[in-house]
Amino acid sequence: MKFASHISEMDISGIRKCFEGAGPNAINLGLGQPDFDTPAHIKEAAIKAIRDGFTGYTPNCGFPDLLLAISQKFLRDNQLRYSPEEIMVTSGASEALFLAIAALVERGDEVLVGDPSFLSYSALTKLVGGKPVGVPLNDQLRLTPDAVNEMITERTKAIIINSPSNPTGAVQTEEELRGIAEIADDSDIAVISDEVYEHFIYDGEHISPARFSDNVITVNAVSKTYAMTGWRLGYLAAKGGAHEQLLKVHQYIQACACSISQKAALAAIAGPQECVATMRDEFKLRRDMLVKGILELGVDLVKPQGAFYLFPKVGDGDSAASSLAKAGVIAVPGSAFGPEGKEHIRLSYASSRKNLEEALKRMRGIL
Ligand SMILES: Cc1ncc(COP(=O)(O)O)c(C=O)c1O
Repeated sequence: MKFASHISEMDISGIRKCFEGAGPNAINLGLGQPDFDTPAHIKEAAIKAIRDGFTGYTPNCGFPDLLLAISQKFLRDNQLRYSPEEIMVTSGASEALFLAIAALVERGDEVLVGDPSFLSYSALTKLVGGKPVGVPLNDQLRLTPDAVNEMITERTKAIIINSPSNPTGAVQTEEELRGIAEIADDSDIAVISDEVYEHFIYDGEHISPARFSDNVITVNAVSKTYAMTGWRLGYLAAKGGAHEQLLKVHQYIQACACSISQKAALAAIAGPQECVATMRDEFKLRRDMLVKGILELGVDLVKPQGAFYLFPKVGDGDSAASSLAKAGVIAVPGSAFGPEGKEHIRLSYASSRKNLEEALKRMRGIL
């Protein structure tokens, strides 16, 4: 078999590396998903969907009640006006990101991604024959309009924003988002805004760049917000003709998202939101605890404002992750997220406070 060169030249995710050398009792701070169970009322909605025989294909973009609920959610949480016709339900944010990139990027086109940023942005760009271009972050680990401006060329098709960010936990300011949206408008570049961590913010507030420009494809999911990563249910919203172009990709690769997960997502998005506040409160306690512990070890750290990650600067991130693995703590080397991340490691606090306490003890003398 002869595989396409742009696929065979890609690497398998660097996240795997972090498990090397870790024993069976290692504490896993490498995880990218909430350590909570999906709330009961959401599970019940899925069980009911199965009992009711809601098991066939749904319309490509999602079933109408869910599209309406997502439209209302955008207004409730993000001050965004998207009609149900501008929304598409996808198999996780991952599919939504792929649709956006596949619909925008031709061979050789460039996509601006934070360096470091979530691995999929570069990988999906390469998957369609495009070229990811890393934009260095500022000393607060945020994307700035100036840095974005410097990287724009005639081949730039899109810029991906992720606030709060995986892997840094940084939250972009309104001014920065407005500035980047203006640049995108001036250069007719799309902004892909990945907002999967929007509800996990502990200082500051979440702002959607689509408030400032119609050139934005807003991507989100129930995955992190409602502890539903395995349900594979995300969504996107895009104004005007963009939606139709994305639909062409979605209908052939996926047809529709899982019908049962769609019913569960309706219960999640339109139902009581206390479960989200409970998770956020717990994550905040853990963030404060881990930040305090890491700073007491004398490690250089920008305090993260959101998501559930810390991104301390530890010197050589690869060797720190490997020493930590031997000491029983799994962390992800920052180099997995882009070359500029090489002096960092990513620590996830989607793990119990007891585990975090023990992990801090094991880190002593290593970091
Ligand atoms: C920033 C970011 N976007 C998207 C995803 C993927 O989300 P989903 O599970 O909904 O595909 C992740 C998962 O780790 C993520 O961290």
